[in-house]
This record gives sequence, structure tokens and C-alpha cells, in this order.
Amino acid sequence: MNWQASPFLFDRSTHSPEETQRLGGSLAAILQPGDCVCLTGTLGAGKTTFVRGLIQGILGPETTVNSPTFNIVSLYDQGPFPIWHIDLYRFENDDEWIELGLNETQEGLLIIEWPEKAEKFIRQSALVLNFDISQNNLKIIFTGTKNWSERLKPLQTSFEK
Ligand SMILES: Nc1ncnc2c1ncn2[C@@H]1O[C@H](COP(=O)(O)OP(=O)(O)O)[C@@H](O)[C@H]1O
Ligand SMILES: [Mg+2]
Repeated sequence: MNWQASPFLFDRSTHSPEETQRLGGSLAAILQPGDCVCLTGTLGAGKTTFVRGLIQGILGPETTVNSPTFNIVSLYDQGPFPIWHIDLYRFENDDEWIELGLNETQEGLLIIEWPEKAEKFIRQSALVLNFDISQNNLKIIFTGTKNWSERLKPLQTSFEK
């Protein structure tokens, strides 16, 4: 099975950037090194906002999280494990994957915006979140393997609006 065809798990809606960030923060609690979280959806859909909450949930609220749009990769190595925040929007050539050092990220947490730009490198075991925004109303659809459904269970109640 392909990462893009991961089964639907559940969805949540948020109505402000703060709420989206909080949702990212609650996901942080169950992530561990070796995981890959992919975020799909149009430009401005709220992916980086969610990732900001997620990374701050692991490293602390004072951590600055900017979109790695131009450098493609941001590495946060001040925490318990390395966190790679990757934005593949400008990724064009498969050779760049190795040039960017992305084949050496097994020990860390991988967070990838625009995974479809380098689809052959995306792990089948990724948690895939799809972002669909209209006005301030953002719907986030969680998809992933059965393993993710188990791991996300403790969070589902705290995700309730
Ligand atoms: N419910 C919401 N959740 C997240 N962002 C929202 C929401 N409503 C409005 N926004 C705005 O949408 C923009 C999302 O930008 P960003 O997170 O960088 O998107 P992406 O990374 O998907 O391109 C921000 O300016 C944010 O303030
Ligand atoms: Mg972004």
C-alpha cells in the first residue's frame, strides 16, 4: 500500500491559527524518533502553523519555527532527538534528496510539507494529514496505518472540540 492511499482515521476542524497550533501541540505528545508526519494541502492551508505547534510541543513554546520554504530543510537539534522540518514545495530533482542529507534522518522525527513533490522517498508508514481551508475554517483529515490509529487513540478525546 502506498502512503498516499493510507486509510482514513478521523478528522478535526479548527477555526483560528491558535487552535491549529494547539492541535499540532497535542500531536507532539505521542511522536517519537523514527516517525514521519506528512502534511498535504494548498499554499496557505495552515500546514506550517500546525507544525509550529507540533515542534513547540516538543522543544518548548519559545522555539522559533519558520517555514523552510527557501532552504527546504530546517533541522532542530537542541531537543531529545533531531527534528527535521522539510518543505518540498521547491524540490525539483530527486538528486536533491541526498544533497540535502535527507537519507540520513532515520534517527529523528521527519515532518514533511508537500510530500507529493518527492513521493518515492516518502515512507509507507507515514502519518499523513490533509489540510483543507476555507475562510478560517480548516479541516484536517488524519490518515495512516492501523498502528497510527492505535497510537492516536489517547489523543482523540483531547482533540474533541
Ligand atoms: N484555522 C486556521 N488554521 C491555520 N491557519 C489559519 C486558520 N485560519 C486562518 N489561517 C491563516 O492561514 C495562513 C496559513 O499559513 P501557513 O500555516 O503558512 O500555511 P501553509 O504552510 O499550508 O502554506 C496563516 O496566515 C494563518 O494565520
Ligand atoms: Mg508551509
